[in-house]
Amino acid sequence: MTIGDLLDGEFLTDSLVIISHLLKKDKAWVLSHLDDPIEKAVANEIKKLIAKRKNGYPLAYIIRKKEFMGLDFYLEEGVFIPRPETETLVQFAIEYIKDHGIKTAAEIGCGSGAISVSLAYYTKINIYATDISKKAANITIKNAKKHRIDAFVNVKQGKFLEPFENVLNNIELVISNPPYVEPEYELPKESHYEPKNAFFYGSSSLDFYREFKKRYGGKNWIVIMEFSGKSDDKNELKRLFHEVNFIKDLDGVERFFIGRV
Ligand SMILES: C[S@@+](CC[C@H](N)C(=O)[O-])C[C@H]1O[C@@H](n2cnc3c(N)ncnc32)[C@H](O)[C@@H]1O
Repeated sequence: MTIGDLLDGEFLTDSLVIISHLLKKDKAWVLSHLDDPIEKAVANEIKKLIAKRKNGYPLAYIIRKKEFMGLDFYLEEGVFIPRPETETLVQFAIEYIKDHGIKTAAEIGCGSGAISVSLAYYTKINIYATDISKKAANITIKNAKKHRIDAFVNVKQGKFLEPFENVLNNIELVISNPPYVEPEYELPKESHYEPKNAFFYGSSSLDFYREFKKRYGGKNWIVIMEFSGKSDDKNELKRLFHEVNFIKDLDGVERFFIGRV
């Protein structure tokens, strides 16, 4: 068997990524060694992973990484896979932080650390990050170390900002890509491998924001968050927060907002 025999016509790009991951070679190397023979045990492992991928298992969990904001994030099953659309939220936040001289921010629901680690990496501000998942909190710490900005990112497992009650007065801005999917929504197959509480909170797409307001209303923090993009939800967000402005994603849909709590 040769390396080329393992490339799957239907899943060309993903099979190339899996082969290159298992052989620890880049894609260009793989493509220029398609006629090389491959050990049976390695070939079988690659075939097993390609079959898993074809069955809907996310590529990011197979290769244990996902690129976000030009940085590689380590990932494991059980932790939300960062989505490219969230990069617009982070880019907006980076500009806001630079323009307004923000020194301290917090993130609720850090997952792999995609948002907190990117913000700290590009702005060098201090960030307090939480996640209800212990695994997610640990992976954020690992990613902060990987990108050598762990001195700027303080991560703890917990709900909302409960682990950081003693520093709430230092916070100027809170960012989040929270769970906002309607409970009755049927998730696509790939998302079944991701944690449910990354998508769902309470009984509506707005319960997370309502609880956030209940806990922190009057703090006068800047809030930059992702939301469902639904027009009914926009009206409720305008009611919950002050000075709300909506921000469009790359498809021109208003998927993020900035406001004050
Ligand atoms: C949509 S994911 C976002 C992860 C990451 N920020 C990103 O954008 O890739 C939402 C995250 O919020 C966490 N989460 C859900 N409810 C939470 C709560 N009440 N307090 C803290 N974290 C929460 C979930 O465990 C999940 O990691």
